Amino acid sequence: MNRPIRRALLAALFALLLAACGQVTPMDSFAPAGPEAHRILNLSTPVFIIAGVIFLLVEAAIVFAVWKFRDRGDDLEPTQIHGNTRLELLWTIIPALILAGVAIPTVKAVIDLTTRPGDGMEVKVTGHQWWFEFQYPNHDITTANVLVIPVGTPVDLEMTSADVVHSFWVPRLAGKRDVIPGQTTYLKLQADEIGEYWGQCAEFCGLGHANMRIRVQVVSQEDFDAWVADQRQPAVEPANGTPAAAGKDLFLNKGCTSCHVIDGVSDTAQAAAPNLTHIASRDVIAGASLNFTEDDLKAWLANPPAMKPGSYMPNLHLSSDDIDSLIAYLEALK
Ligand code: CUA
Repeated sequence: MNRPIRRALLAALFALLLAACGQVTPMDSFAPAGPEAHRILNLSTPVFIIAGVIFLLVEAAIVFAVWKFRDRGDDLEPTQIHGNTRLELLWTIIPALILAGVAIPTVKAVIDLTTRPGDGMEVKVTGHQWWFEFQYPNHDITTANVLVIPVGTPVDLEMTSADVVHSFWVPRLAGKRDVIPGQTTYLKLQADEIGEYWGQCAEFCGLGHANMRIRVQVVSQEDFDAWVADQRQPAVEPANGTPAAAGKDLFLNKGCTSCHVIDGVSDTAQAAAPNLTHIASRDVIAGASLNFTEDDLKAWLANPPAMKPGSYMPNLHLSSDDIDSLIAYLEALK
């Protein structure tokens, strides 16, 4: 290997090591923030330690054997042996016990974390190509991309898919669970610290897979109650003659209504795209891959598939004036 390549590899390795020791990253399963995620880490840490100890023992035995029985140039054939019942029993029984020791708590945890939920707050999750929809049946709320939950409260996710298999994964809060069309899968999660957590669809589901993200916003119970009250308000009606009113007209006439719901404005039964009734209360768009900022909204509305490959939202060839009006309307939808 020549020198520049070796140097580059060393630098990359060093960067990886630094990254591993650095601060908590948004999708760090080694930094659990709730009981379910803690339980998973408490399972994987001892397994990792056991595997590490076994690795060291096996490597040490190999090195010892290589050194001890090395060729000494005396052409003597070592003693030949065949079979040792006691040893063979031992090296069958010990690994079997270790595997059972690992398997029993693991299977129990998998069952506990994914069976039909109990008494937590219910949220229905629907995977779409390429965004997640969240419905709060007890609060009569439908939203997308951002899952808002109160701190310290158990949440029961009831998940299904509208198209292909996706996988719901917020590493700091819970394990990974497939989201399957025609089936309901369950996942429990809880966050014990206020803040934001990130997740990612973890099953390849087509072109937009890498941009199918989840933002979990954990708030105090008071803030959650206020959020619920806001979400239950009807969509803001822009005043006549404002840019937002022009944007609403565009929304109604450019085909947006065939996929997007805005309560009281557009009630398509086939909600193939995120509900926009309160889009301005979310800080992300496009499968949580872009921000709810003027720059991102402009780029997105100008050409969605260019911003998120595979996007089913087509390029509507909007003029920049139209885009400005639409953004004024979207920003009014708090
Ligand atoms: Cu949805 Cu990958």
